[in-house]
Amino acid sequence: AEAEHIPQPPTAPFVGNLTDIDMDYPLGSMMHLAKKYGPIYKLSLSGLDLIVVSNWELVHETCDDSRFKKSIKGDLEELRAAVHDGLFTSKGEEEVNWGVAHRVLMTAFGPLAIRTMFDEMHEVASQLALKWARQGPAQPIDVGEDLTRLTLDTVALCSMGFRFNSYYREDLHPFIKAMYAVLKEAGMKTMRILPSIFYQSEDRKYHENIKLLRSTAREVLDSRKTLPEGADTRKDLLSAMLRGVDPKTGRKMLDESIIDNLITFLVAGHETTAATFQFTLYNLVKHPDTYRKVQHEVDAVVGTGAITLEHISKLKYLAAVLRETLRQNAPISAFAREPLQDEIIGGKCKVKAGTQIVCLLAKSQSDPVVYGPTADQFVPERMFDENFERIQEEFPHSWSPFGSGIRSCIGRPFAWQELMLAFAILLQNFNFVMDNPSYTLRVAQTLTIKPKDFYIRAIPRDGLT
Ligand code: HEM
Repeated sequence: AEAEHIPQPPTAPFVGNLTDIDMDYPLGSMMHLAKKYGPIYKLSLSGLDLIVVSNWELVHETCDDSRFKKSIKGDLEELRAAVHDGLFTSKGEEEVNWGVAHRVLMTAFGPLAIRTMFDEMHEVASQLALKWARQGPAQPIDVGEDLTRLTLDTVALCSMGFRFNSYYREDLHPFIKAMYAVLKEAGMKTMRILPSIFYQSEDRKYHENIKLLRSTAREVLDSRKTLPEGADTRKDLLSAMLRGVDPKTGRKMLDESIIDNLITFLVAGHETTAATFQFTLYNLVKHPDTYRKVQHEVDAVVGTGAITLEHISKLKYLAAVLRETLRQNAPISAFAREPLQDEIIGGKCKVKAGTQIVCLLAKSQSDPVVYGPTADQFVPERMFDENFERIQEEFPHSWSPFGSGIRSCIGRPFAWQELMLAFAILLQNFNFVMDNPSYTLRVAQTLTIKPKDFYIRAIPRDGLT
């Protein structure tokens, strides 16, 4: 059959479709173009041609690991200056370091290992609850800031025993500042239009910040390695990386690869989880009926005492709320794939090997083919365990906020336990209300999307600890 033409907005000389994209909020532009041009369209952005797919069927096809793989272009490629072939930014499964790290870390990130992190996750979440309790109900809370402190401190403590102590300082730790600067510059670098000579001072700063990230991670690694025999009793990701032997190759991880991945965990693990917290909190305060049911569940399961590991899996409503939030507001709103060989997708569109295909979760996860006439509404009940399993069986990849296949999120059980635990503690101890009741969701976009200017108040609940 004749291959079909893929629609593309009209291009301008030199800049292609660059003017179609709002650089502060590319997701918004891509959603808008999907409405106008349909579930598959093409864009040319300063030398990079890409295809955007946004319905369930095309995303599902593109997730097939036997025909497509994760694509590392743009921001992710720039980030390789900082974390090389760490898990997130590795170019292909064939890269030796990815394979060794993946196999060594699969167990360390598995549900059993994550359970041993419960106490430390609990400790950081309690610091947050304490802070909000002390501030009292009159204080508007910048949700983004406080939840980012939570997720950063949690991932640093549980992965390498490092304490940022973000709740005990006003400013950000130098490591965190450097990390933000690197993430931001990696994005800016993809939009440069002048020769590199014009960006020397930016480049110098970029490399200084990368140096700081790596030297801090190296110090953490060295201090662990120099502990006397038997003194390293921590069971965290760092110790798993130091001790672990890859069952396939018999190799251990190289120090450089451990450093790449320590930084990767902080980058990949904090903004995503913080954004999920914020969107979920937003959905709860916006849907009082759901809020009441979830709080009722926490009261029934946990009561007023200390929360334990066993409580977590019993919080079914809360789990459904998180899943529905991740469906409508996936913090990683798109992921990128590319064909291994020249391909025909959707039965009719030719795509050359290596062409980037952006899977637009922000749209495909609301496909009415999967979610019916209520696809655009917040309906947590559709995400109860048995419904959730049925949807995934019938429509694989229709819910993919953690990515897909071999390159999907290794931190999923970690994030899940952290989210469930902290929400249980917060719902147990506070009633949340919107600071400005007329606020409606606005989002900001960096590597992830997250609510913008979202403030709440936390009213301590009577009689609870
Ligand atoms: C990969 C989402 C939390 C570590 C991914 C991918 C997604 C994702 C969509 C695939 C990206 C792609 O295909 O380009 C999320 C969400 C999270 C979360 C929504 C929170 C709700 C975490 C946490 C960690 C983590 C807590 C670590 C502690 C990673 C790593 C990868 C990854 C290392 C790369 C895996 C590989 O390619 O081998 N995540 N993530 N993530 N995530 Fe997460």
